[in-house]
Amino acid sequence: MPDSPEASEAGAGASNDGSHLPENAVEVKGLNKIYRALGKGEAAHALVDVDLSIPRGSLFGLLGPNGAGKSTLINILAGLVNKTSGKAIVWGCDIDENPRQARAAIGVVPQELNIDPFFTPRELLELQAGLYGVPPRERRTDEILAALGLGDKAHSYARTLSGGMRRRLMVAKAMVHNPPVLVLDEPTAGVDIELRLQLWAHVEELNNRGTTVLLTTHYLEEAEELCDRIAIINHGKVIAYDTKRALLRRLDSKELTLLLSQDLPEIPEALARFGPEMMGGRCLRFQYRSSDSPVSEILAAVSGAGLSVADIFTEEADLEDIFLQLTHGAHDDTIDAKILREARIRRDRRRYADAE
Ligand SMILES: Nc1ncnc2c1ncn2[C@@H]1O[C@H](COP(=O)(O)OP(=O)(O)OP(=O)(O)O)[C@@H](O)[C@H]1O
Ligand SMILES: [Mg+2]
Repeated sequence: MPDSPEASEAGAGASNDGSHLPENAVEVKGLNKIYRALGKGEAAHALVDVDLSIPRGSLFGLLGPNGAGKSTLINILAGLVNKTSGKAIVWGCDIDENPRQARAAIGVVPQELNIDPFFTPRELLELQAGLYGVPPRERRTDEILAALGLGDKAHSYARTLSGGMRRRLMVAKAMVHNPPVLVLDEPTAGVDIELRLQLWAHVEELNNRGTTVLLTTHYLEEAEELCDRIAIINHGKVIAYDTKRALLRRLDSKELTLLLSQDLPEIPEALARFGPEMMGGRCLRFQYRSSDSPVSEILAAVSGAGLSVADIFTEEADLEDIFLQLTHGAHDDTIDAKILREARIRRDRRRYADAE
């Protein structure tokens, strides 16, 4: 475990005054991490020459399948894991040259829940504030507890909190020293939908007030909804890094599905040039580039072939498609790829079941 960080200029309160603030909240250059082999295990090259800049004020999503290296990267930034080589700068402080300041500038909500069950949320936050050297008059314990919906649990033993409440308590702990950079490693795993939305609303609010947020999540719709910038990491390498908008633009693909009024024995010749796919007896799925926009041609050819359309669905590419496309192939067997593929199949089935 690292030493207890001390509150410093980099930590408490450095976030609001526009001057002297770093352009990037986090900068990583040529970062490598090799976990040495233990016993008969193999060494793991968890991060491979990672370069990444997280602009100040952004809500940044780090995505990747299981074992991609997300937690390793976050833990290096937080001073919990030693890097093998490369450079990491948090809020202008090099983690090698100014480790304490770097650590004080960052609040981390780790992936694993680690809460002492015999303390109350209030005690835990006070303890954490003490560790970070936040003087009692500057502590915002009750404000933070209230913001995370834990005000009425302030004096209950942590062991009596539900899983979702513990998760929120972890977020509260990461915020006691008012760090300008908040890092959340899959903070919504196991949190129900209502609480998840509450948690995200709070994260968004923090971000709107100037905190830079770095989060990892397996809920791709969430990253799509919340994050303005996204990096995708796979096998320790950054394989995509861009604004969300640019990433989505990259997949210039759309889908048009037609539910016909009658069964089709085969694809009519007049439609063959659009390369449709038969989905059951009555559904035809067309894929095309948004920029080509052949919808009116397709519809004209459909009615020209004497077919009538009962319903039409269209769908644009989303982050899930990009993620699948980029991590496809080599990682077919990862849990994420499987889950995503199954989710797509379920979604398609639902759509066609609704249509029939
Ligand atoms: N303490 C450790 N010792 C040895 N290898 C490790 C250790 N921690 C992680 N690894 C390995 O490093 C790689 C990256 O792991 P990491 O936990 O960073 O992935 P992740 O992207 O956070 O995955 P997940 O989505 O499952 O949380 C994996 O191959 C993992 O087995
Ligand atoms: Mg992880």
